[in-house]
Amino acid sequence: MNFNTSSSPNQDLEPARLPSHVAIIMDGNGRWAKKRLLNRIKGHEKGVEAVRATVRACRELGIANLTLYAFSTENWHRPKSEITALMTLLKTFLESEEKELMENNIRLNAIGQIERLPGDVQQALHKIMTLTKKNSSMLLNLALSYGARDEILKMVKEIAKKAKIGTIDPDSITSELVCEHLYTKEIPDPDLLIRTSGEMRLSNFLLWQIAYSEIYITDTLWPDFGKDELIEILKNYQRRERRFGKIES
Ligand code: FPP
Repeated sequence: MNFNTSSSPNQDLEPARLPSHVAIIMDGNGRWAKKRLLNRIKGHEKGVEAVRATVRACRELGIANLTLYAFSTENWHRPKSEITALMTLLKTFLESEEKELMENNIRLNAIGQIERLPGDVQQALHKIMTLTKKNSSMLLNLALSYGARDEILKMVKEIAKKAKIGTIDPDSITSELVCEHLYTKEIPDPDLLIRTSGEMRLSNFLLWQIAYSEIYITDTLWPDFGKDELIEILKNYQRRERRFGKIES
């Protein structure tokens, strides 16, 4: 499917004031399934449909960067059967999206401990990352086996090693240098962080990068999330005044 960006109805959004980077904590798949007396896996399956709808919506609306928290470092502690089902869903998603990502000029990237993923998932990931690497209309960034504390520890170790051998002067370590050692080094910080299913927590997601992000928490469970709600959230974002710690000028 080719997303026709030119004929999208005016959604009362100001294109110039759209967030450049939207990050989403996709939560509530299990509760969605439980409410319907279904197995949790059915919730994750429906969650994949919400992923597709959200990627399409972001592409249509002109969001340049979308980061989705698909699997955390803590998620490895879930039952083996659920981990296996999530990895299978992920692999199927990666294999099935090739055409759509190419037709719509979307680059897929992954952040996190990719080396911990099963070999077949890593292969599918590398294949689609290579295929889409020159696409430039939008970046779909999947956080997989991702944890912000792990990312920060990795950054500290890398910088400490460089300081030890003398290629970095500890007194000249800057925020920019820190950013260059994070998984997100090529992406602007999220302007907007969305969390579904009503929980008021950050769950170890992009802790350095969200220092000045606008946060929106919706009670909607992830499988029920879609374009209409995203547009309402973007309208809410555009009504906010971002001051970055300064006072109104
Ligand atoms: C949180 O719901 C969701 C996850 C841990 C996984 C998110 C995964 C998907 C949306 C599907 C696979 C992703 C891709 C990109 C293909 P939960 O299980 O914690 O829900 P609960 O809090 O209601 O139990």
